[in-house]
Amino acid sequence: MLKNKVAIITGGSEGIGFGIASALASQGTHVYLVARTEEKLKKAKNEIIGRGGKAEIRPADITDIESMKEIIENVYKDNGHLDIFVNNAGAWKSQSLDTPFADIWKLVEFNMKAPFELTHYLASRFRSEKHNTLKVLTVVSQAALQVMDSGLGYGPAKMGLVAELFHLENELRRKKIENIKFYRLYPNTVATEKMMDAIRNNQVQNPVNLESVVDVAIDLLSDKTPTRDIRIGYYPRNGIVRTYLPSNPDDFYHQTKTTEEVVDSSFTPKDLLK
Ligand SMILES: NC(=O)c1ccc[n+]([C@@H]2O[C@H](COP(=O)([O-])OP(=O)(O)OC[C@H]3O[C@@H](n4cnc5c(N)ncnc54)[C@H](OP(=O)(O)O)[C@@H]3O)[C@@H](O)[C@H]2O)c1
Repeated sequence: MLKNKVAIITGGSEGIGFGIASALASQGTHVYLVARTEEKLKKAKNEIIGRGGKAEIRPADITDIESMKEIIENVYKDNGHLDIFVNNAGAWKSQSLDTPFADIWKLVEFNMKAPFELTHYLASRFRSEKHNTLKVLTVVSQAALQVMDSGLGYGPAKMGLVAELFHLENELRRKKIENIKFYRLYPNTVATEKMMDAIRNNQVQNPVNLESVVDVAIDLLSDKTPTRDIRIGYYPRNGIVRTYLPSNPDDFYHQTKTTEEVVDSSFTPKDLLK
């Protein structure tokens, strides 16, 4: 299902984005990695190619929308199709009442405005390309589903991003545009490479392994899941759990309409240190 597809992954040089890009490439998708630092992009690309995948790099900052539009156009032109866009680049920063407002707003622009504007552009650009089905997967966060400490910029940005995506999806539905499909992934804390020191020093609560998060992304993009909105996390009582959230825009505020699936009851965060 993912063979010979073309995908752009923002923040594809490391962490969750690199995990998703590698998994897509291993299934035969041609991946284009976007991030700011060329050296990290080259390393990521070589790793994917070394395992037999097809990867190219496009250095860019996602907040530079014009550069991003150019990348999208060129990838589409070069391949004749664009099948998957992964809105993954984003970052948490601790922000409180003492944080200057300009810094809070900058984080909102990065975590909300940029992915929303990109998705809005993709929806407008591809709505009339009926032959091209485009799947847009956005990596959100548990912070979109609950208020978290010290999250003055990040939390509302992720909440707002989900609200924008549901409204955009509702517009597509009203206009009977069926070739653009949205998927959202809400991870709890993830054991990415960057997090490992904090995990070793016990500064991080209940991290889930990266593989389980990547599996959700692949299952979503393969249309193998009961809904298009999935939270994934580790819970000490149950292990690794997927929570299927409602994807119909009409059910946006009905978060009680969820179902859960334990995907690994034996995992504990100690396994990450082996
Ligand atoms: N890790 C977690 O525990 C966790 C939990 C829930 C949600 N999330 C979400 O998952 C996503 C990925 O997080 P992660 O932890 O995997 O991140 P990460 O390990 O810090 O990697 C971030 C990636 O994004 C790129 N990037 C950063 N700023 C960028 C920009 N302005 N333009 C383009 N690329 C940029 C980075 O490369 P450059 O720095 O070279 O640009 C890198 O490739 C984020 O949206 C985050 O909010 C993460």
